[in-house]
Amino acid sequence: MASGSTQADSGHGGPHGGVAECEQPDPIDAAVTPSRRVLVTGASGFIAGHLLPRLASRGHRVRAMWRGREGAGRTRAPGIDWVEGDVTLPETLSRATFECDVIVHLAGCSTAQPGSSLEAVNVAGTRNLLVAGLDSGVQRIVYLSALGASPAAGPYFRSRFQAEDAVMSSGVEHVIVRPAVVYGPEDHFVSSILALLRKLPVFPMLGDGTFRLQPIAVEDLVDVLTQSVERPDVEGGLYEVAGPDRISFTSIVRTVGEVAALRRPILPLPDGVASPVTRLAQGAGFATPFTKEQLDVLRRGSVLSGDDNPLRTVFRIKPLPFRDALEDYLASGPGRPEDGSRSGGAT
Ligand SMILES: NC(=O)c1ccc[n+]([C@@H]2O[C@H](COP(=O)([O-])OP(=O)(O)OC[C@H]3O[C@@H](n4cnc5c(N)ncnc54)[C@H](OP(=O)(O)O)[C@@H]3O)[C@@H](O)[C@H]2O)c1
Repeated sequence: MASGSTQADSGHGGPHGGVAECEQPDPIDAAVTPSRRVLVTGASGFIAGHLLPRLASRGHRVRAMWRGREGAGRTRAPGIDWVEGDVTLPETLSRATFECDVIVHLAGCSTAQPGSSLEAVNVAGTRNLLVAGLDSGVQRIVYLSALGASPAAGPYFRSRFQAEDAVMSSGVEHVIVRPAVVYGPEDHFVSSILALLRKLPVFPMLGDGTFRLQPIAVEDLVDVLTQSVERPDVEGGLYEVAGPDRISFTSIVRTVGEVAALRRPILPLPDGVASPVTRLAQGAGFATPFTKEQLDVLRRGSVLSGDDNPLRTVFRIKPLPFRDALEDYLASGPGRPEDGSRSGGAT
């Protein structure tokens, strides 16, 4: 999909203001960016752990919404106001959205949770948040969707598409970002590969491992989200963003093994075996890089459909190469942020 795509390009239909590449100014300079009151949902998650300190460091007044779950991570970055809220419980949301200018909506799940379906969290939860945001006079919502969102894909990607639809038809200024798989300190993707490399003498490869991915470094995604909060001109866009490398899953595993000094033989699992094995592993609580559902989509290739990458053309970011960023990430301690600023549980 082209940068700053229209709703029609994205499958949502109807006219919608995209952003043409040639019209893009350079990202707003920190010195002239007005401070906004920003609510970040999903604040105990991986991406929020990187975004919250960035927003605060740029002078925004940041409120972080989390569920107060025991064991959930919270960044210790200063100047962040923590508030409890659950997107499936509308009555908990107005305290979070009160007097906010912008919402960055990261709360979501990729598999159904006990007592909560994908529809309830990703679709109805987004609608609940939009209602609370509208009541509070929020001016903009930045919605983090996922590359592959489509009405024709499996339940996860369908729920993302439906949530995008809710955002687009809400009447609130919006920016929608569809990232490829995201990696960095405290991620789910590389951490799961590392866990398998550490625990097993061989790496069980799903299918033949030739399906390609285009992983994006969390720093780059955080930059996109920050610009989406600050730049008036990106409003109304739907941006598919990814890293610079289109790499097969096998190459990713090899690269992680090399960089982490955990080289393992790769054991291909034939098609008929891969999904049941993944299901069994997940049922046993074993870390796997993807949910069974995501696996089906990822195996079709989770890469941008064309050469255009809005990361470069719209957001003016030179994307970090996978190997370089991985080396930095693992040098800082896998699974831990560089500054050690996050902790499990309430802090
Ligand atoms: N990481 C990736 O590669 C990637 C790629 C594409 C899209 N995304 C999407 O981007 C978003 C952020 O990603 P992430 O990697 O940071 O995910 P994450 O670490 O799994 O964090 C998800 C966050 O959503 C919160 N949440 C879940 N259900 C909620 C509910 N009912 N009410 C309020 N909060 C709820 C979680 O809270 P608890 O801590 O209480 O569970 C957590 O803070 C997610 O929606 C994810 O699906 C991620």
